[in-house]
Amino acid sequence: MGSCCSWLHSLSIMLAFLLLPTALLLLLNPPPPAHHQAAVDRRLLPRRSPETASRAAAAPSMKRQRNQMPENEIERELSRARAAIRRASAGRGNATAVFSRPSVYRSPAAFYQSYKEMEKRFKVYVYEEGEAPLVHVGPCKNIYTTEGRFISELEMMSPDSGRGLRTADPRRAHAFFLPFSIAQLVRYVYRPNTHDHAPIRRFVSDYVDVVSSKHPFWNRTAAADHFMLACHDWGPSASRANPFLYNNAIRALCNANTSEGFRPRKDVSIPEINLVSGEMPADMLSPPPLESYPRPLLAFFAGGLHGPIRPALLRHWKGRDPDLQVHEYLPRGSDDYFSYMRRSRFCLCPSGYEVASPRVVEAIYAGCIPVIISDDYVLPFGDVLRWEEFSVKVAPDDIPRLKEVLMAVPEEDVRRLTAGVQAVRLHFVLNHPPKRFDVFYMILHSVWLRRLNIKVAEL
Ligand SMILES: *[C@@H]1O[C@H](CO)[C@@H](O)[C@H](O)[C@H]1NC(C)=O
Ligand SMILES: *[C@@H]1O[C@H](CO)[C@@H](O)[C@H](O)[C@H]1NC(C)=O
Ligand SMILES: *[C@@H]1O[C@H](CO)[C@@H](O)[C@H](O)[C@H]1NC(C)=O
Repeated sequence: MGSCCSWLHSLSIMLAFLLLPTALLLLLNPPPPAHHQAAVDRRLLPRRSPETASRAAAAPSMKRQRNQMPENEIERELSRARAAIRRASAGRGNATAVFSRPSVYRSPAAFYQSYKEMEKRFKVYVYEEGEAPLVHVGPCKNIYTTEGRFISELEMMSPDSGRGLRTADPRRAHAFFLPFSIAQLVRYVYRPNTHDHAPIRRFVSDYVDVVSSKHPFWNRTAAADHFMLACHDWGPSASRANPFLYNNAIRALCNANTSEGFRPRKDVSIPEINLVSGEMPADMLSPPPLESYPRPLLAFFAGGLHGPIRPALLRHWKGRDPDLQVHEYLPRGSDDYFSYMRRSRFCLCPSGYEVASPRVVEAIYAGCIPVIISDDYVLPFGDVLRWEEFSVKVAPDDIPRLKEVLMAVPEEDVRRLTAGVQAVRLHFVLNHPPKRFDVFYMILHSVWLRRLNIKVAEL
């Protein structure tokens, strides 16, 4: 019960209380219990929690800030950032010094500048409405790790310091985050085995109604500066609950399937990360130098028969060829699983029930070149990263020729791609607290780029 991120959440509550000006407020506003056992219906309508009420009380300077930050100041800031990025990409910036391998970026100078502009200017307002465990927290282990960790990390950042990414003053915000967790809604609101998404959509629709009637910001841009994030397969479906959320808002999704309405210019593809225990595996946190691993195996895959692509992979390759280790089942996170990945040059990442696969990130952690086998999948951070510098794409129709295709990659390309994998690793790592250029900030940077409405790749 409760959320796997409850340790993170309790920490955030503790921090919030440490920051409170008087002990009186603490007495008046006890923290909400970490584990909600009450019937789901009672929670369907988002409410203001005692915790958030006290947070608002702790922001006395809001009125003053409001007057200093009229709406068009936000627009002026965005255009200053755009101008700086254009200048940098025109040659007056030097990202070569910062990035270990500039060739993995579409435009290293533009990316580095847009990242610095984000650090300098970007402010996110997180709506306070709603309560855990449906809003403000998420699962922090297994397949929905990215969703839970993003929501929890953002919640834990103090909005009051004026320096960080979060702001307590929505008038200073460039983006507004809707902090509900689709994975938590599936867990607590969905009735198992009904395949009925309606209760989840009802919650999302109610949530949007509350924030759009209580605050002026949703209507001001018809949701274009609002964003949600979901790793659960039902994220796209849940976002259909409100037409503005679906059509105008920025949807950060693991399930970035263009056939399901994912729009690369507006939406954000985020990597799926599966932390079995909620922790980064120790040997992934500090991997031995890649060169010290001989890679005697050509390729590796282990996984279930999910979805349209994997049956072909298993039919053609399971148990067929010792160079291509294709298994139907190997315990995830087991020593075997990662050891196969570290002994393989290529790690196969076919779509399962949904386009994204946590294998892409696992391969990157293991220094193994991901082989993307999917249709309609928009790869994460693709507007910044040059995926062709650290992965290989194989069309599902080429599965019967897989060995031939991979054998045909020249030795020198294997070395280039392996070095690329090593260079992008930092962008896929979860840190607590988040670190510069890690997956948390890369997700935010993708949202920032969409607010700038700029494509660094085209500069
Ligand atoms: C950029 O930095 C690199 C490494 O410090 C240096 O070798 C290169 O000359 C610099 N390029 C420019 C245009 O300043
Ligand atoms: C935003 O628009 C909706 C629908 O038109 C309306 O019901 C709501 O009251 C508006 N919100 C505000 C704060 O004016
Ligand atoms: C992508 O979306 C289409 C349309 O809903 C669906 O048919 C397809 O199976 C999806 N792909 C995956 C891998 O789920």
